[in-house]
Amino acid sequence: MKTKILSLLREGQDYVSGQELCDYFGVSRTAVWKVMNQLKEEGYEIEAVKNKGYKLLNQPDILSVNEIAGRLNTKWAGRQLYCLAETDSTNIDAKRLIEEGAPNGTLVIADKQNSGRGRRGRSWSSPKGTAIYMSLALKPSFSPDRASMVTLIMALAVAKGIREAAGLRACIKWPNDVVLGKKKVCGILTEMNAEPDYIHSVVIGTGINVNEREFPAEIQGIATSLFLEKGETVIRAQLVASVMEYFEEDYEKFLVREDLSELSEEYNKLLINKDKRVKVLDPKQEWEGTARGINEKGELLVEDDKGSLVEVYAGEVSVRGLYSYV
Ligand code: BTN
Repeated sequence: MKTKILSLLREGQDYVSGQELCDYFGVSRTAVWKVMNQLKEEGYEIEAVKNKGYKLLNQPDILSVNEIAGRLNTKWAGRQLYCLAETDSTNIDAKRLIEEGAPNGTLVIADKQNSGRGRRGRSWSSPKGTAIYMSLALKPSFSPDRASMVTLIMALAVAKGIREAAGLRACIKWPNDVVLGKKKVCGILTEMNAEPDYIHSVVIGTGINVNEREFPAEIQGIATSLFLEKGETVIRAQLVASVMEYFEEDYEKFLVREDLSELSEEYNKLLINKDKRVKVLDPKQEWEGTARGINEKGELLVEDDKGSLVEVYAGEVSVRGLYSYV
């Protein structure tokens, strides 16, 4: 009832009548009043006016099951939802849950992580209350060589979600960072538990900088947040719901052929590296070329100086702009 009342208050342009709420839920006025009080205690600013009803004046930026579930229009992505005040790493929680039998699409979100993990063994700074740390657990039936593509699908979903929920022109830095201007706003770490020909589970961990006012000096030059770019607080629950919707839609397109042929055109439109000079950080040898976009396998096509297109595989190499991170 609380989730539904919140949705009705959010949707209501004007006052929502107390009597209508009572009729809708078949409960007494006291029961409705109690829910309003609970919401106020959680930080919602609700005005109650006699003979008019209730109006939501201000909503806090809370990552709760109520806040997210009330906004989520998906069939399976995020339908099983865990919102934790604090954890070590949502990737670890999601992996445990899916392997204990939680359904495909289980989502774990935390307000703070104590051992947030980044790519290539790095850590992911995860302070409380401002960012999104979430992990989506999947139980796919495709073969392990396809798994790296789900990371690109999540990057696409985050870029589109940021555009929708925050109105900012987010782009993708291949393969799976989301950037605003030339700074990183989101990182994705996909972890898989598999045998050579069988996937037990895939966990896509996503960290999005949302309402941070500042970053530590050592990353100020490469990191930004939605708040810093927009100058306004962004409601994290809205962004989570939006990302889940885009992910579900695009993942289902991917499943048809188990490749990115249906998505590469859209991905390439949002690709910040497209037609830009990049440095390919191949452990064997670094080289420079011009990025031309991804193919259906999610590889970056880079034109070398002899005019040949080289397929660069995300698992082995990363790319940088010639003079900066993008
Ligand atoms: C990167 O290095 O760019 C990837 C960062 C991924 C961070 C997210 S936050 C949620 C999930 N839990 C983790 O421990 N890591 C990922």
